[in-house]
Amino acid sequence: MRISLRQLQVFQAVARHLSYTRAAEELNMTQPAAFTQVKQLEETLGMALLERIGKRIHLTEAGHVVRESAQETLDGLERMQMQLDDLRGLRQGRLKLAIVSTAQYFMPRLLGEFCTANPGVEVALTVTNRQTVLARLTGNEDDLCVLGTPPEGLDVVATAIADNPLAILARHDHPLLQADEISPQRIAEEPFILREPGSGTRLAAERFFAARGLRLKMRMELGSNEAIKQAVIGGLGLAILSRDTLALEGRFGLLKPLNVKGFPLLRQWQVAYPRGKHLSVVAEAFLEHLVTHARAAALAGPLPPGADSMAPLALPARPERSQPICESNSA
Ligand code: PGA
Repeated sequence: MRISLRQLQVFQAVARHLSYTRAAEELNMTQPAAFTQVKQLEETLGMALLERIGKRIHLTEAGHVVRESAQETLDGLERMQMQLDDLRGLRQGRLKLAIVSTAQYFMPRLLGEFCTANPGVEVALTVTNRQTVLARLTGNEDDLCVLGTPPEGLDVVATAIADNPLAILARHDHPLLQADEISPQRIAEEPFILREPGSGTRLAAERFFAARGLRLKMRMELGSNEAIKQAVIGGLGLAILSRDTLALEGRFGLLKPLNVKGFPLLRQWQVAYPRGKHLSVVAEAFLEHLVTHARAAALAGPLPPGADSMAPLALPARPERSQPICESNSA
């Protein structure tokens, strides 16, 4: 049987995107060339791997089998390459990570340190919410995932790397900031700005209140920690967020944690991968880096070293009237 690595690579990309066009873009080739590679693989195997139903491409049963084996083959070759590089004293290769959005306040800095020490490492980082990270973890799509504690019953190896306390945040002039030991019942009367369904932060907050027979009053739902902080500063309500999200807003006193019974809610950051997965040399090294340094990085937050002495930022002067003001739509 003559199967080429290129055919497996192209098939994997098409199976992942369920699109010849996007697979071809990823692999820098034309769409007809991608199509031909998959066709040749199907001819060699004597079975259809993909089928088109309406406008959509689906994997056939044989396609699922081939996808799994092709992944093992490609991963095995990558691991072999990394082990050989390691023997030669070079640590290089790809590191594929998926992290929950709340971990973005400390993970990039840890990655920065790791990549400075290992310049041959190329990182692909996906930042998304807990639900999507869990789906990626189940589908073995990444080398490592960073999230809150994975659910019981998921067959993964998970290691705690840092604490992730959740606090109830209010604007600096909120009257409840004067109160001591506020009850969860009292807090549930306040309007809240919550993360989207699928967020680990939201899940933890809802579980806390549901366990006490309470439901939070949602004023607004936002898919970003940054937008939530701005909404709280804007006076729209309270929020439950990880301490790690409180960088400048906490330091400059714009947002403050309320003293609520049961809070901070203690959670942990964990690094996880499917049980039985063979970690690459680079993934092993990064896992060790996380275990050693994540605690300190999470405590320090996203500010650069020396930022403690930073003076509050002065706002730029208003532009002259005749000066054109450029607006950008990019977020
Ligand atoms: P989130 O996850 O960013 O999806 O809210 C955070 C967590 O799981 O603690």
